[in-house]
Amino acid sequence: MSRYRLHRTLVMVGMMGAGKTAVGGALARMIGVPFIDSDAEIEAAANMKVAELFETYGESFFRDKEALVLERLLSGPPCVLSTGGGAFLREENRALIAARGLAVWLKADRELLWARVRHKDSRPLLQVDNPRQKLYALLEAREPAYAEAGLVVTAEPDLSVQAMAEKVLRALLAHPSDCLRKVA
Ligand code: S3P
Repeated sequence: MSRYRLHRTLVMVGMMGAGKTAVGGALARMIGVPFIDSDAEIEAAANMKVAELFETYGESFFRDKEALVLERLLSGPPCVLSTGGGAFLREENRALIAARGLAVWLKADRELLWARVRHKDSRPLLQVDNPRQKLYALLEAREPAYAEAGLVVTAEPDLSVQAMAEKVLRALLAHPSDCLRKVA
């Protein structure tokens, strides 16, 4: 089995349904580092689900908590960190991630994203009359920010979580930042 050394936190960014949590978890197992999910950290700190936080305190309160959690997690040892789909939109968050980690955008097209989120009701931003249209609009508005990620890996509908994690791993090993190295 190969062993790896990770020098910077790998921050999974991209839309809801892109596979940040599933692929990030598989990637962390493959390279032998902890996996942390920022939404789960926010939920644990607030003792509330993301949807409840949105409903009770509003989106901007959630975004402030998200920024604080990112700051804390990016001060810790290198890990794979999966973020919520909106986290990479704040310029301060992007700057922090670029300074302390490497952003990995899991880029998926809108049909794939919709197929993955349509049966779930855990995303407050999609609790609207036309969630499909909302998802497409969010994607269009957010793509320029996601494109600032240090590494872009395209998701494909036929790739399993494991195969996608392997694709990310190959891209990381070839990345000029040298943040992930294979050790003998
Ligand atoms: C959000 C995505 C969600 C969660 C919140 C807001 C977004 O995370 O943070 O509902 O703005 O896209 P996932 O991307 O893990 O679904």
